[in-house]
Amino acid sequence: MYPLRRNRRLRTTEAIRSMVRETILTPSDFLVPLFVVEGKNIKEEIASMPNYYRMSLDNLEKEVKELWEMGLCSVLLFVKVADNLKDNKGTEAINPNGLMQLAIQTIKNACPDMLVMTDVALDPYSSFGHDGIVHEGHILNDETVDILAEMSISHANAGADFVAPSDMMDGRILTIREALEDEGFTNTGIMSYSAKYASAYYGPFRDALDSAPVDSKNVPKDKKTYQMDFANRFEAIAETQADIDEGADIVMVKPGLCYLDIVREIRNEVEVPVAVYQVSGEYAMLKAAAEKGWLDHDAVMMEQLIAIKRAGANIIASYFAKDAVRLM
Ligand code: PBG
Repeated sequence: MYPLRRNRRLRTTEAIRSMVRETILTPSDFLVPLFVVEGKNIKEEIASMPNYYRMSLDNLEKEVKELWEMGLCSVLLFVKVADNLKDNKGTEAINPNGLMQLAIQTIKNACPDMLVMTDVALDPYSSFGHDGIVHEGHILNDETVDILAEMSISHANAGADFVAPSDMMDGRILTIREALEDEGFTNTGIMSYSAKYASAYYGPFRDALDSAPVDSKNVPKDKKTYQMDFANRFEAIAETQADIDEGADIVMVKPGLCYLDIVREIRNEVEVPVAVYQVSGEYAMLKAAAEKGWLDHDAVMMEQLIAIKRAGANIIASYFAKDAVRLM
């Protein structure tokens, strides 16, 4: 008798489709990236990221209250630092009254239960736009790691729940973990950008923070000596395993869509939560295509987010978080 199996039966109506659906997004899947700037009453749109903004602290406070109301209860903070505060060692990064430290306090005052994660890397603070100290055309590893540990302590002191090192220096998770323990921050988490590729998809983010590597003699023009080669797969597992061994609570794959093979592989390989960062260039591409009327924004957005979760993401950092939750 042909056919014994008719796979279309389970697709007949929305009721049966939703009953057998394997992947469902919820607001608590999301980590919302936020860009903070100095000043008052500032909410400026980022040119290459339509409908995404840099906000001063007063508007940041309003924003997190709105996120909380929507069920979005985790944020990932980035700051745009004034040029006159930048130097090679990112000195401003450990200023107890710096913008990041104030942003953490502002959020914790406005919305005490909001989970606050902070970006830890030198690039927004670096006069050269690199994630580490530049010395004679190279990025110094161990000297940078020491500063990242100080930065992490400073963020924990200001009230951060998690620090998120995005720099890709070797050994930084261990040094940060030991520093947090030594200072008594035993409950401060580390979400490590473990498999972070040297990607051209970060372009709009670097516009947002004015943090691109500067074009100058003796300054590497890209981040390929620390971020991973996008041709590599085994290296992603090695990087991720090393970060777990060094004390990372959550690991990450970044960017998202082009790297879902890596996400699945890491998810199968490790026993800690896996985050995926759907980065600025991914956001910009869809916004641009939708503006032209070439793609259905909401439908493609949901398809992409589900694909990221289906691939194995337990946490999704995405500029689409609010758009997506409004549709749920
Ligand atoms: C900085 C950092 C970057 C991103 C997150 N943290 C940029 C970079 O590494 O150059 C990119 C995020 C995005 O593109 O959305 N260390």
